[in-house]
Amino acid sequence: MIRLAILGSGSGSNALNIIEQCKQRLDIQVAVVICNIEGAGILDHAKNNGIPAVVISNNELKTEDNLIHVLQQHQVDWIVLAGFLRKIGSGVCQAFPNKILNIHPALLPKYGGKGMYGHFVHEAVYENKETQSGITIHFVNEHYDEGNIIAQFTANLEPSDTPKDIETKVRALEIAHFPSVIFETILK
Ligand code: GRF
Repeated sequence: MIRLAILGSGSGSNALNIIEQCKQRLDIQVAVVICNIEGAGILDHAKNNGIPAVVISNNELKTEDNLIHVLQQHQVDWIVLAGFLRKIGSGVCQAFPNKILNIHPALLPKYGGKGMYGHFVHEAVYENKETQSGITIHFVNEHYDEGNIIAQFTANLEPSDTPKDIETKVRALEIAHFPSVIFETILK
């Protein structure tokens, strides 16, 4: 049984989707959900599904061993970032080489890097009048959004689309594709 950790900082819509897809499987399970924000929605999704939910504060995350210890305690094989807003340090990357996946709500390398998350991404896409946006699923290294790209999926944008409309289209791609890309990558 392959054991996943899901790391997130927000509402956890991606985490909930992954949790629900894993419930249908016998080969991959979500071993732990880790969040840096007390009370974030992602923690409720874990608890509602009987999955250990651990809060590691931003301050505690400054010591990478605090995260590595929790991951090892839960015998994690792969790490999935689903809206985790802190950078993953080199220590964690070395402890889990090529075993950390992230989803970014844009078509990297554009609209990536520090500070480019959530609505900031969709606003930048909107400001630049892009005709397409989408998602990028990639391996994580110690630089924001720069690991090898695994898959990208695009959505066509209309001139009338607001940043909120763009976010809606991008989130639909996340829900449609993130779990299956995770499973394919892990089982390769
Ligand atoms: C999603 O937009 C995802 O692409 C990005 O962070 C957001 C997470 O949203 N990495 P949620 O917490 O899964 O709802």
